[in-house]
Amino acid sequence: MHILGTGSYTPKRVVTNDDLATIVDTNDEWISSRTGIKERHISEGETSAELGARAALKAIEDAAIDPLDIDLIILASFTPDLTLPNVACQIQEKIGAFNATCYDLNAACSGFLFGLSSANAYLVSGMYRNILVIGSETMSRTIDWSDRSTCVLFGDGAGAAILTADNEKAYVAVSGSDGVKGKVLTGGGTILKNFLINSDTANIVADTFYIKMDGQEVFKFAVSKVPECINQVLEKAGKTPDDIDYYILHQANVRIISSVAKRLHISEDKIPVNLHKYGNTSAASIPILLDELRRDGTLKSGQKIIFSGFGGGLTWGASYMEI
Ligand code: ACO
Repeated sequence: MHILGTGSYTPKRVVTNDDLATIVDTNDEWISSRTGIKERHISEGETSAELGARAALKAIEDAAIDPLDIDLIILASFTPDLTLPNVACQIQEKIGAFNATCYDLNAACSGFLFGLSSANAYLVSGMYRNILVIGSETMSRTIDWSDRSTCVLFGDGAGAAILTADNEKAYVAVSGSDGVKGKVLTGGGTILKNFLINSDTANIVADTFYIKMDGQEVFKFAVSKVPECINQVLEKAGKTPDDIDYYILHQANVRIISSVAKRLHISEDKIPVNLHKYGNTSAASIPILLDELRRDGTLKSGQKIIFSGFGGGLTWGASYMEI
């Protein structure tokens, strides 16, 4: 599989840690030292479809292809503005990819990675030729802005990649899920409280709508599972950690990234970070970073990279890719 082009987009409005300190009892020192996050971009009404379409248009321009040549759109998100029509179909209309089959995929922060592996399987089978995989999230719509333990962590944004078949460039993946531990990270519930018995609008937000997280459990899960699945994919690809040029990891917390570097005995120079600018953008974090690294010249043809992510579900995965 070969990356033909990438694109990313984040909303214009930047919310700093100091801005958040004016709405909840927090401060820049706590957020920076616990997470590495300094600021995040927050949508002012733009939907996941609009963010995703903007990222996709940049990827199409980068790939220099006709939108009509895209035959599949996989949209990874757990913050769709509508479930009908799905976000991928909304994006199809906005970018004019009228020959594409379109569907959404929800694996929380692992979504883009799962989308990449699905794309690879379709390309290997010959079912599709040019596949657009997008991660797009409006986390701000499902955050409880009075809950300091979650609202400081997340941001909005989208990233996209266009993939095509290439037998010369290896792609190897591992992934997993653990529904038993799903309760440590929940949100997005749509079953309305009391909706069957009255129409009191004050009661219609579901208890399960806002993101709720047992941060320490998610932390422990991430620092053990990410190195484990990276080791698995290295073994499957027949590579050692030193063979890899860059590790492109889900951008949730800089302490998780440092712990992964230590456990794998790799230099942090090989693990680029941009979460200080965007916070955790869930399924969008890996493709936003991928796009930045391609555009600033860090990533070059012929390099070997590892992607790895983890998220709600619980879900996780790692991929080895020759670019
Ligand atoms: N500002 C100031 N104080 C705060 C804040 C805040 N924003 N949030 C929590 N605190 C307080 C708590 O109330 C607690 O106070 P107490 O000791 O008086 O009770 C104290 O800080 C420590 O709280 P902890 O939750 O123990 O803090 P911890 O060191 O574990 O850090 C964090 C919390 C940053 C969330 C960490 O657990 C973490 O990064 N976990 C992983 C989260 C993650 O990666 N999530 C993404 C999942 S991916 C997806 O699918 C969305």
